[in-house]
Amino acid sequence: MTIRKIFTYPDPILRKKAEKITAFDDKLEQLAADMAETMYDAPGVGLAANQIGIAEQIIVVDISEEEDARDYLTLINPVISNGEGSIVGDEGCLSVLDYSTNVKRFEKIHVDAQNIKGEVLSFEAEKRFARIIQHEVDHLLGVLFIDRISSLKRGLYKKKLAKLLKK
Ligand code: NI
Repeated sequence: MTIRKIFTYPDPILRKKAEKITAFDDKLEQLAADMAETMYDAPGVGLAANQIGIAEQIIVVDISEEEDARDYLTLINPVISNGEGSIVGDEGCLSVLDYSTNVKRFEKIHVDAQNIKGEVLSFEAEKRFARIIQHEVDHLLGVLFIDRISSLKRGLYKKKLAKLLKK
């Protein structure tokens, strides 16, 4: 397993729409393992492939019950449907330096995806789990959580980032 470089905003790779995955091979397993390693090293609770520079539809999501555990779910070609309710919660992103803020998300969602072997997965997710999946699926569509906040807040963040990057 290798820790990969995480690309950060405003790198254009984060705006690229990820391609559907059709080959369920050793290379894909290696990619998933690297993504998990990179996520836990960061540390974060979710990671999408575009964040490490690969525009393919794969995400890893932490599902650990305990602090030091490393249980994660790999979702290939994930699609969200039937969003229900709405809930505001704090979000940050490994690709958005030095920032977190409240973002509104569906409280409950349905997810269709494939696992690392290409088998079909179909399940409901809610609360924190649903939030992470929505955030990561956004990445695959080229969307960042800062696109889902007010333009005023986004503008302030851009100024803050510009200062940060000058240093
Ligand atoms: Ni993110």
